[in-house]
Amino acid sequence: MAKHETPMLDQLETGPWPSFVSDLKQEAASRAKNENNIEYQIPQDVVEDLIGIMELSYEHGRTHWKHGGIVGVFGYGGGVIGRYCDQPEKFPGVAHFHTMRVSQPAGKFYTTKYLESICELWERRGSGVTNMHGSTGDIIFLGTTTPQLEEVFYELTHNLNQDLGGSGSNLRTPSDCIGQARCEYACFDTQALCHDLTNEYQDELHRPAFPYKFKFKFDGCPNCCVASIARADLSFIGTWRDDIRIDQEAVQAYIGGEIMPNANAHSGRD
Ligand code: HEM
Ligand code: HEM
Ligand code: SF4
Repeated sequence: MAKHETPMLDQLETGPWPSFVSDLKQEAASRAKNENNIEYQIPQDVVEDLIGIMELSYEHGRTHWKHGGIVGVFGYGGGVIGRYCDQPEKFPGVAHFHTMRVSQPAGKFYTTKYLESICELWERRGSGVTNMHGSTGDIIFLGTTTPQLEEVFYELTHNLNQDLGGSGSNLRTPSDCIGQARCEYACFDTQALCHDLTNEYQDELHRPAFPYKFKFKFDGCPNCCVASIARADLSFIGTWRDDIRIDQEAVQAYIGGEIMPNANAHSGRD
């Protein structure tokens, strides 16, 4: 039995697309069951209250989140985004519900072991709800209480060799397309440059020194998979600088039907 009735959110589950409401309910149910005997450090029913307050916002046609000031970890000015709700009595689980930005590796490559470790940490010390990834590029941990911020930061930096990303008026987490690692269009090594500049500007990343946020993004070609042109202050976009080369034989084979479009992935689906 759900803690809060959510008739309006329930409607969002009925369409043809995957639903974030179903995902949240699944997470709420898994926390309620706690099959792995996790020692939850924030309310076990945090996700139930998250769903509850969202339903209330739908009912009232306005948000119940407020911005309650600055929270962070010692020595850093960025990486944590403070969220509080204006209904803490009714939804105590989300009285504080801060977001943490976790710096993603260039190209977003992970081992399953690493993913398991961060999920385990966030189940225990946060809501368990993540956003992989925010459009900022970071791994987003959605929702924890103020006392848990330092604890999460300690475990990330000491046990998982992992840092926070940027927020506020600092250098935002630089972010790149997958580039040469998998993509034939890459005109430069996006990962190398992203990694290098991330290291070079560590101080600016963690300690806001600018009047406003500032972001680098790296796209290996003008397809702009990380939207550097739209979402960065300094965009690096690879361009081809030689004569354009066309394999006319391959073009003929394509026209003649010997080479199928997209390696035949769309056959029968047109
Ligand atoms: C109509 C309402 C809203 C609009 C139009 C809106 C818009 C946006 C946009 C455009 C972004 C940037 C996405 C990105 O860079 O990844 C964003 C990020 C964010 N929003 Fe909202 N938002 C809304 C409501 C909310 C509410 C209610 C909350 C919290 C309770 C919230 C929390 C956040 C957080 C924490 C981020 C950063 C996530 C990240 O870095 O990926 N937003 N929002
Ligand atoms: C109602 C209007 C808007 C809302 C609610 C909104 C919300 C947000 C939020 C919450 C974020 C994440 C902030 C952060 O990274 O700490 C964000 C990111 C961003 N917003 Fe907006 N925004 C709005 C309008 C705009 C406009 C008008 C522009 C540009 C003209 C803009 C450009 C950006 C960019 C480039 C980012 C990404 C920064 C990054 O990748 O780290 N936003 N927006
Ligand atoms: S931006 Fe270009 S190089 Fe980078 S992943 Fe997209 S298509 Fe490939």
